[in-house]
Parts: sequence; structure tokens; C-alpha cells
Amino acid sequence: MSSQEMSLKERNIVFIGFMGVGKTTIGELVAKKLYRDFIDIDAEIEKEYGMPVTEIFKSIGEKAFREKEKNVITDMCNKKLKIISLGGGAFLQEEIRKVCLEKCMVLFLDLSWESWKERISLIIDSRPVLQGRTIEQIEELFNERQEIYSHHHSKITTDHQDIEEVADYIVSSLKLAWNLYE
Ligand code: S3P
Repeated sequence: MSSQEMSLKERNIVFIGFMGVGKTTIGELVAKKLYRDFIDIDAEIEKEYGMPVTEIFKSIGEKAFREKEKNVITDMCNKKLKIISLGGGAFLQEEIRKVCLEKCMVLFLDLSWESWKERISLIIDSRPVLQGRTIEQIEELFNERQEIYSHHHSKITTDHQDIEEVADYIVSSLKLAWNLYE
């Protein structure tokens, strides 16, 4: 289905942003509030391979993971009314950026480095891309990645915000946009 055939309201909502910013938690909440299905791309890939992302990186390598990531996202973008959370590295691929921006509403969840670094111990074990790097190297990666996330339809800054409030804000902004532009 082309984006022209799809109304703004029918378009999937895609969450992008760095690892650990809350794409899955906030995406799930938004999906609940809008009575829509939630899809976590990493979880879809993990289901297909029957193992967690860290194991997938070890057994088939990052390149094969990225290829699968592209295929799963492209398939998902051809559906409608879904709330989708992408892995933080997905937007490195131009084809993914293109298909998401063309067919979906892309929301960038932004968080400052200062707030993000407080969360590192919670996520490091399940994020192969962070493992073996110093904190300075992770900060460098964090800063480098901001460019790829600048390709979005809307940015939501989440520093010092409660996740319920962020989700409510997103839902009301979406409803406003749907009413204005339909
Ligand atoms: C990655 C982010 C992860 C996962 C994989 C690679 C990245 O997803 O896709 O570990 O390169 O930023 P989250 O952003 O959900 O942690």
C-alpha cells in the first residue's frame, strides 16, 4: 500500500532513538492508549532466531542482523495502524530511513547524554553494541548517532519526564494532528 493510499491516522507510528531511551516502554504505553498493536522489531527478530540479540550478534554477526532488521522493518511498514519500536541502529540504513519516513509517522525520542548515562548499567548486558567500549567511546557513539535521528517527523524530549506523561503527550499530539490534517 503506498503512503498516498493511507490516511495520516492509518499510518504506523515508528519510534526511533538511541538504545535505552524508552522506545519500547513508551511505545507500548502509546499503543495501549490508542488500542493499537505494538511491535518491537528486536523482539520480532529474536522470535525468528529463537535467541536474544546478544546471541544473534555472536552467532550470525551484526551484518546478518542488520539485513534481517531491514527486511522485518520493510514488511512492517507495509501494514497500517501499528505502533513500532525500532532498534537504535536501524536508522543507520538509508533504506530503512526512507521506507519509514515515506510510509509512517516517525517520532524521535530524545534524551540528553547526562540523563542517558544514568541508565547504562540497566542496559549494557543486553546491548552488544555497547559492550567492550569505554564510557568516552559510548558518548562518542551517542553523539554520532544524533545525526541519523535528525531524520524524523517529530521530536519528543524526555529528560526528567514521567513515562505516563510522555505517552499522554504523544497521544494528544497525535490526535491533534489527525484532527487538523484529515
Ligand atoms: C542496537 C540497538 C538495539 C538492538 C541492537 C543494536 C544499536 O535496540 O537493535 O542491540 O545498534 O543501537 P534498542 O535501541 O532497542 O536497544
